[in-house]
Amino acid sequence: ETEILKNTEISKAVEFLADGKLVAFPTETVYGLGADATRPDVVKDVYAAKGRPSDNPLIVHVSSPEMVWEYADLTYKPMAEKLMSKFWPGPLTIIMPIQPGSLSKEVTGGLSTAAFRMPNNSTTLNLIKTFGKPIVGPSANTSGKPSPTLAKHVYHDLKGKISAILDDGPTKLGVESTVIDLSTDIPTVLRPGMITVEDLLQVLDNVNSDHHKVAAGEIPKAPGMKYKHYAPSAQVIIVDDTNDFTKAIAEYKTNKLGIMATEDVLSTIPDAEGQLKFSLGNDIYGASKELFAGLRGLDGQNVEYILAQGFPEADHGEAYRNRLNKSAGQKHFEK
Ligand code: TXA
Ligand code: MG
Repeated sequence: ETEILKNTEISKAVEFLADGKLVAFPTETVYGLGADATRPDVVKDVYAAKGRPSDNPLIVHVSSPEMVWEYADLTYKPMAEKLMSKFWPGPLTIIMPIQPGSLSKEVTGGLSTAAFRMPNNSTTLNLIKTFGKPIVGPSANTSGKPSPTLAKHVYHDLKGKISAILDDGPTKLGVESTVIDLSTDIPTVLRPGMITVEDLLQVLDNVNSDHHKVAAGEIPKAPGMKYKHYAPSAQVIIVDDTNDFTKAIAEYKTNKLGIMATEDVLSTIPDAEGQLKFSLGNDIYGASKELFAGLRGLDGQNVEYILAQGFPEADHGEAYRNRLNKSAGQKHFEK
């Protein structure tokens, strides 16, 4: 049985963690699947619950920058501290080499580096602080499915497989953290998020992005980026030009068609039988927050296709676009 805990029931959640159990926790991005980061036997259960390939390393979640330096090598400390003081707590995950043997291969996927993040959520910061140790936390979804932005998404995927879910309502940002690797010559963004390259350049002299340039057959640097991701059962089709929705709807007409777009776009689309609309709010922030909920919600109603509004892949649109491209397997509406 999986218990749903109120965000005030921290001590119960801590007890589960201390018992070597799995507890899903809220963050500002998506819900994470928490376990004691210092116990390899428990970390193994995280992979099993998610059905996650074991070479895909986990993020170590901390409640303070100090916690990081018990594990990370100090080489990149000056650079990391600049990032931490500007962006933590917040949606930035920092990869650095670790002190040999300080974290298990179950956490690092056998790499000599690890990913660290201090989430901006008071419930979870309190949880980690009270527990007194870092917790691992991949997104709390079944591997390959959209990340969870509500406790009920976690329950849907992991009920019976984890002990508890700390429910703190909908997550604020909706897309996972920006991942930056400091261990390369030039710091490299491995996964785009709501902290943009431009934001990072306020603190760092130079930043590379490596997430769109992975050539066929090449292995991306973040092991997680090579797997099928964010994919509902329905086929997702990206509609880049909002003027094309009418044509796209005609072309993909079926018994059940899902449409995800902003309010202003939806208001131009007449209601029709078998057509389910999902609102992405008013702008790229609303769209990022609602993307995974929309994919899950429409999928739950067994639509055959999902027509989803594309936003330009720039600035705060990079994260949305990166996740949407994966969920659609790059499929676009072609006029
Ligand atoms: O917003 C987030 O980051 C959420 C919340 C729960 O904190 N977590 C999350 O975790 O998205 P996950 O496991 O779904 O994604 C972590 C990504 C994966 O693509 C993984 O391959 C990469 O970070 N990663 C972790 N450690 C790494 C390392 N040492 N080197 C390269 N990539 C790493
Ligand atoms: Mg994930």
